Amino acid sequence: MFNFKTDLRSRSAFFISTVFFYLLVASTQAWSQVRVEDLAAGVKKCSIGTPDPFTPYHFCAEKPLYEALANMPAATLPFDLQRISLRVTDRGAVVEIPLGGDEQIYGFGMQINSFNERGLRKRPIVNDNPLNDLGYTHAPATFYVTTHGYGILINTSRYTTFYCGTTQKLNPSSNGSGNTTAKANAQSVEELYKKDDPGAGMVTVDIPGAKGIEVFIFEGPDMKSAVQRYNLFSGGGCLPAIWGLGIKYRVKADFKQSQVYRMAGYFRDHKIPCDVLGLEPRWQTAAYSCSYVWNREFFPDPQQLIDSMQASHFHLNLWEHAFVAPVSPLRQALKSKAGDYLVWNGLVPDFADSSAANIFAAYHKTVFADKGISGFKLDECDNSNIATGGSTWSFPELSRFPSGIDGEQMHQQFGLLYQKTIYGIFKKSNKRTYLDVRASSDFASSYPAALYSDTYDHAAYIRMIGNAGFAGLLWSPEVRESHSTRELLRRTQTAILSAQTLFNSWYLQYPPWLQVDIDKNNKGILQDDANAAEASIKTLLDFRMSIVPYLYNAFAEYARKGEPPFRALVMDYPQDKNTWNISDEYLIGDCMLAAPLLADSDHRQVYLPAGAWFDYNSHQKFEGGKTYTFENGLTQIPVFIKEGSILPLAKPLGFIAPDTKFEITCYVYGDKPAHAQLFEDDGTTFDYEKGRYNVIDLYNDIPDSTISKTKKNAVSKNKTTFSKTRSTRTGNYKNEKYIISRWVHIQ
Ligand code: GAL
Repeated sequence: MFNFKTDLRSRSAFFISTVFFYLLVASTQAWSQVRVEDLAAGVKKCSIGTPDPFTPYHFCAEKPLYEALANMPAATLPFDLQRISLRVTDRGAVVEIPLGGDEQIYGFGMQINSFNERGLRKRPIVNDNPLNDLGYTHAPATFYVTTHGYGILINTSRYTTFYCGTTQKLNPSSNGSGNTTAKANAQSVEELYKKDDPGAGMVTVDIPGAKGIEVFIFEGPDMKSAVQRYNLFSGGGCLPAIWGLGIKYRVKADFKQSQVYRMAGYFRDHKIPCDVLGLEPRWQTAAYSCSYVWNREFFPDPQQLIDSMQASHFHLNLWEHAFVAPVSPLRQALKSKAGDYLVWNGLVPDFADSSAANIFAAYHKTVFADKGISGFKLDECDNSNIATGGSTWSFPELSRFPSGIDGEQMHQQFGLLYQKTIYGIFKKSNKRTYLDVRASSDFASSYPAALYSDTYDHAAYIRMIGNAGFAGLLWSPEVRESHSTRELLRRTQTAILSAQTLFNSWYLQYPPWLQVDIDKNNKGILQDDANAAEASIKTLLDFRMSIVPYLYNAFAEYARKGEPPFRALVMDYPQDKNTWNISDEYLIGDCMLAAPLLADSDHRQVYLPAGAWFDYNSHQKFEGGKTYTFENGLTQIPVFIKEGSILPLAKPLGFIAPDTKFEITCYVYGDKPAHAQLFEDDGTTFDYEKGRYNVIDLYNDIPDSTISKTKKNAVSKNKTTFSKTRSTRTGNYKNEKYIISRWVHIQ
């Protein structure tokens, strides 16, 4: 049986051995002041001085899943704990962590351009502009993991710099030779200016202004386990409402109620899957800053809208940001609980103070969630674009908030605290949701929220899927306009293979597949191939709907084991050097490898790691450990399935309703014994935390002796009728959502 959060809710049930002791390392004064604490199985904390009060862990509301942590394989660090150095100087805190010669580093949140961070100087700061890979991102994290199988989190909300193996420290006892000698003997100009590889060294972390610091250490034993430990320590991964794994479509910002009805009708009439419609700014009487009051001129009867959408199985999601307009009913109550600077004339609620967050949450619950709104899009919580001097809309770093937090630390935590505030209202009502959010931070895995961006670079959007997985984050590579239908379809292929499939048409009158060009779209001039493009989009979206049960199970694994549903290859294959710099492929769940294409080609190289893999489209088998060139059509799915696995695919549906039953075909890849699971519950409440769920085990049992015989008896290459497949259902959920109707063998 799974052990979800409530099984473990009582912290006291698990005895945490908290041991404070002083490490006696003679060399520096500071070492003698390092405190070491065991926080949970495989999670330690080293600290020094007086740490800040508003740290990421201070804000982590979900408690660690202690039992799941304890059930992980035991691990040790690849170096002595005492080799981590912590000190406080008059500048701030400094941490040094040993780094092996061939050790590779990943993380720092959802980085946009860089992937393997070794050799870089990273400053993970909340922002939407990656600015020359400095580290700026919507979701910065002070957390990294390495191929040597552990993770490090610097528990600070301050702007922090990580030198990832780039520093060369003076060793007072050495004779001063080393690399400089080699440079002195350089035979060519190239050699003279070649970038030094400092080799084994350290990660040096600079935390200016801090008077103390805490370092959390997450043991492995391998890289994926270290990430799992981090996620379990954060409260486990989130399990979004199952309908959130369908398709989300955001309508034009100035759509009126009647236009929303028309759009909903279009989806259902044309049988294009859609589960969520999102309304953009004009649903409110004031936006930039926000009133959080329905604009009756545009939406004369909001309740009728909600009810009629519910009747046709659409969920409604409302755009907003957190800056409270002068005309907002929330303004008065939040006036004394806000920062001392305004944004677009709006108050900045002090989300670090639970009483401010509660006011914001209570209003959203009564006025929206209780009335049937299923989710929100939390915009503009990622600071102004700090890469340009002219972009200055957000609150300054020097802001002060009544709780005592300053503007810098508030910026780093704002998106996360905002998620926490809004997520809390759904949790309270025992309703699950799936939010959109433009900023996040450390310890975020338990929030069901997908990040989005305005940056729109397709290659970066693919890279961000894997990068998000290193830090307990989910990324939604949204689709808007495109230069061509080809590009639109390539972008859609990426979107259907991500944590959230989102079309963000906030400035488009018609869906982008009817006209990719913004101007023409808004003039109602549909493109000549609109019907064909629509059919292609439907093919891709149907595939998304068919993997919902598989994805949902991957999220259940995220929730109970902390295993990211989307992760870079290196996380599962850290020993394989070929994976170290692959940022354009990633794994989905247990057995699927995705390799999306950009618009410019129908071919791409794909590295397949150890094992054997089947091309999903051709069913051809390929030996792992090699790179191949594959061709992929615009309506094909750029994925590979691992030999020895079972992929349960559902008959595609137009939406997921409370009484939906998924008709499942189980595809068995290869003739090895295989096992897969499906997680089954109501899909919409937290009752699974009380044990109301089933696990369906899917098996392909092939006793060794029968393999050759079975092969001989194969009816056709792709449709062999084995007799050894079976499924079992165990658990306490009374309804059946999955009907296992067919088995197909691919070999
Ligand atoms: C942007 C956001 C877009 C859209 C727009 C509406 O900040 O990233 O997705 O919502 O606001 O004004």
